[in-house]
Amino acid sequence: MRIAVIGGAGYIGSHVARELLDFGHEVFVYDNLSSGLRQNLFEEASFTHGDILDIQKLNDFFESVKPEGIVHLAALKAAGESMLLPEKYSVHNITGSLNILNAASKHGIKYIVFSSSAAVYGSPKYLPMDEKHPTEPENYYGYTKLAIEQYLQWYGKLKGIKYAALRYFNAAGYDVKGRISGLEQNPANLIPIVMEVAAGKRAFVSVFGNDYETEDGTGVRDYIHVSDLARAHRMAFDKLQSGESFVVNLGVNSGSSVLEVIKATERISRKKINYQVIGRRPGDPAVVLANPALAKEFLGWQAECSDLDTLLDTTWRAYLTNA
Ligand code: WQD
Repeated sequence: MRIAVIGGAGYIGSHVARELLDFGHEVFVYDNLSSGLRQNLFEEASFTHGDILDIQKLNDFFESVKPEGIVHLAALKAAGESMLLPEKYSVHNITGSLNILNAASKHGIKYIVFSSSAAVYGSPKYLPMDEKHPTEPENYYGYTKLAIEQYLQWYGKLKGIKYAALRYFNAAGYDVKGRISGLEQNPANLIPIVMEVAAGKRAFVSVFGNDYETEDGTGVRDYIHVSDLARAHRMAFDKLQSGESFVVNLGVNSGSSVLEVIKATERISRKKINYQVIGRRPGDPAVVLANPALAKEFLGWQAECSDLDTLLDTTWRAYLTNA
């Protein structure tokens, strides 16, 4: 299939592009390189440097590429920042997505695979969280993802576009074959922060609270390998070709705590990770876990390389490549 990967130079987008190329799809990356990197592009995929806020450029891109499907991963994703600068998230995430939807319906694009998030659920009311869990985002970033899912639903009804909304839990890891190693700049997530300490780029990790009701008192998250995520995008296109639109969780239903991540990184990198326990970060739940049963039943997908050692080992290798 001819597939446009919007945000394809980013951390997750580059893994998705790689997976699609590996399975014989024709890939056309569109990215404004605000957080994406040229280092993450592949020779076999064409690249257009463009912004989703540039309606003309986006339409020209669709006009020249004539994709049958789109993967949409172009978004800002710092939950904390979204609470301080909601306008920025409205424009880049919501307006940008509407521009994509309008251009997609104008050009008769049939399928959209959308990068959604567990952030649409907000604080867990039960665990593990399935797709029927109430959607009450705790931050504006999560709200933008939910709003975009709703626009997709409407465009699905009104314009016949079929979509898959993939609700990622905590994405981590790097290509197991080492083909992608562009590092995220100024990361706000735990694993890259821990890696920066291991790589000597940062003095210590701030541990946001050790008084949660978890085994070691630190927050537990469901980390999912980007290559597992990438595979789900490919499978989503196969499913959309033969069926209806759908929304699924992508996670493992197995959690790691902050201290487990730190200890395992020390073992894998053979570096000491200094950390300081500070207060809880507002809005952080103790535990977040996905129920991925629907992805398994409906999509035939399950995580294959999301064990903590593979997540951390592949990430550490990417950091070593850049050392
Ligand atoms: C993981 C754990 C922190 C940093 C965020 C978004 C979410 C989703 C994934 C995309 C928590 C602790 C973290 C640090 C720490 N994004 N931590 N010190 O908050 O689960 O999810 O990314 O859709 O929407 O909110 O991920 O990596 O920030 O935190 O102790 O310096 O690590 O408290 O328990 P989070 P995270």
